[in-house]
Amino acid sequence: MQSAEIRSRFLEFFKKRGHAIIPSAPLIPENDPSVLFTTAGMHPLVPYLLGQAHPSGTRLANSQKCVRTQDIDEVGDKTHDTFFEMLGNWSLGDYFKKNAITWSYEFLTSKEEGLGLDPKRLYVTVFGGNEDAPRDEESFAIWKSLGVPEHRIYFMTKDVKGKEPNWWSPGDNGPCGPDSEMFYDVTERGLGDMTKEEYMAADDRQEVVEIWNDVFMEYEKKDGKVIGKLKNKNVDTGAGLERLCMVMQKTDNVFATDLFVPIMSVIHTQATKYDERAARIVADHIRTAVFMMGDGVTPSNTDRGYVLRRLIRRAVRYADQLGIVGGFEEFIESITIKYQEIYPILAEKKETIIDEFTREGSKFKKTLANGLREFEKLSISAISGSDAFALFSTYGFPLEMTEELAIEKGVMVDRAGFEVEFKKHQDLSRSGAEQKFKGGLADTGEKTTMLHTCTHLMLAGLRKYLGDHVHQAGSNITAERTRFDFTHPEKVSREVLDQVEAYVNEAISKQCPVIIEQMKKEEAQAQGVEGSFWEKYPDVVDVYRVKCDDGTVYSSELCGGPHVKNTADIKGRFHITKEEASSAGVRRVKAVIE
Ligand code: ALA
Repeated sequence: MQSAEIRSRFLEFFKKRGHAIIPSAPLIPENDPSVLFTTAGMHPLVPYLLGQAHPSGTRLANSQKCVRTQDIDEVGDKTHDTFFEMLGNWSLGDYFKKNAITWSYEFLTSKEEGLGLDPKRLYVTVFGGNEDAPRDEESFAIWKSLGVPEHRIYFMTKDVKGKEPNWWSPGDNGPCGPDSEMFYDVTERGLGDMTKEEYMAADDRQEVVEIWNDVFMEYEKKDGKVIGKLKNKNVDTGAGLERLCMVMQKTDNVFATDLFVPIMSVIHTQATKYDERAARIVADHIRTAVFMMGDGVTPSNTDRGYVLRRLIRRAVRYADQLGIVGGFEEFIESITIKYQEIYPILAEKKETIIDEFTREGSKFKKTLANGLREFEKLSISAISGSDAFALFSTYGFPLEMTEELAIEKGVMVDRAGFEVEFKKHQDLSRSGAEQKFKGGLADTGEKTTMLHTCTHLMLAGLRKYLGDHVHQAGSNITAERTRFDFTHPEKVSREVLDQVEAYVNEAISKQCPVIIEQMKKEEAQAQGVEGSFWEKYPDVVDVYRVKCDDGTVYSSELCGGPHVKNTADIKGRFHITKEEASSAGVRRVKAVIE
């Protein structure tokens, strides 16, 4: 049974049982700043699990795109991947353990409506009890009533590290509860009856694979502690589609399932050296990167962008190890084609994804060989913080990659030293920017002042026509011209430059006052005032606004002046004379007043 059928059977099964089928939420969580990516199907549903009414009712089901990168080092084995789809059904204060478990069992074993899996290969775990909640006898009894032999139902308790294997929560805060997990025997010989210890050992050897988790969410956690019961008794379930494919298709790893076959075959065709682990890493990382980019993530040095950058660079490194010399287009296409019916956004954004991936990947490819050579020179005994930082700043090696290479060589990396260097560098570039800025301040000549106000208007125009990702990356203003660097990944067309120019000239012709307003830094930030290096400013800041009498605000930016008092004081027409690359991801324009 192919992935598409498993997905549709699941949704059909729960639809028949009164569930509304809801779309997958994007990978970027909409209202949750505590995580970078959606990591489980329940994630977008947290408010509803906490008691808010869901517009589609109390029974929901879907297939949710998820990204989890904490196990990135495990990718390459049989079951780990950084992107996966989670099939899930939810009860928001509606049914509880009996229905949830019965339906899980029916879907897994029914030939007509479900997957028709062999009940003799199924093992189940239930919550063994702790100080927060009692042992889950109810779930145990339900499984038994369905015909699962009791010696294949294991009560699980805290492991030696203090982790509860059968308690699920999305983090330190939010809805949580005991769970019951289903495992499937994927060995050829069949494992048969096992004691709990034997089952745990089989799990370690990946001979049984977790295929589904039913969480009985009736508790709430705050700061890592269970604080009590929720208003509702909810059910949250999750079944990994990739793993269901693996057991249905009798492959011994997820990379041999129909979801991965297209990209794996492109990799195998292009590779000149064979290494299965490397091939799996390339396949996994490209797939995850494609989904991330489909949902609007772009490579950068922070947060989501950094995770994406790390995945792309890691994919490039392992592709290099496989002797792959070509571009990335074919790999990316194999993913978009495979998924475009379910996730049309991938087909819609294919060209952008290919462009961005290629830009990031090729840039890194160029320096990779040099970086690796440099690394070879270093790795005699240990890698100092400044060496690791040099690999990062000169060759674009994410720290984690240097650490991986170091592990392969059996040497240590001074992570703390790296952090110190990183911080020092940040401070240096900040003070550099500040010095330049002070340079601007010192020069309060009439022409320079005019150009300074124009520069604010220009930044606002660039953000208007190119997007909110545009920020100042440096500026140098003299009486003759302004030179301005800003964050943007590609060349800006003359057409857009003309629009920006027109925006500035409109503000000039409308004779708008330039107003200085003092406000709390947080307030300015909340209002969307533009600014770089916020952390360098005091609690109360000056916000410079170009605000016309008709109410139009042309610019709103954190600054220290000097500026004209009214745009009428700008004598002449603003003109952008040049646009060019400055550094990776940064463009530079020069402009004058004619
Ligand atoms: N939220 C549960 C999990 O991710 C179903 O395993």
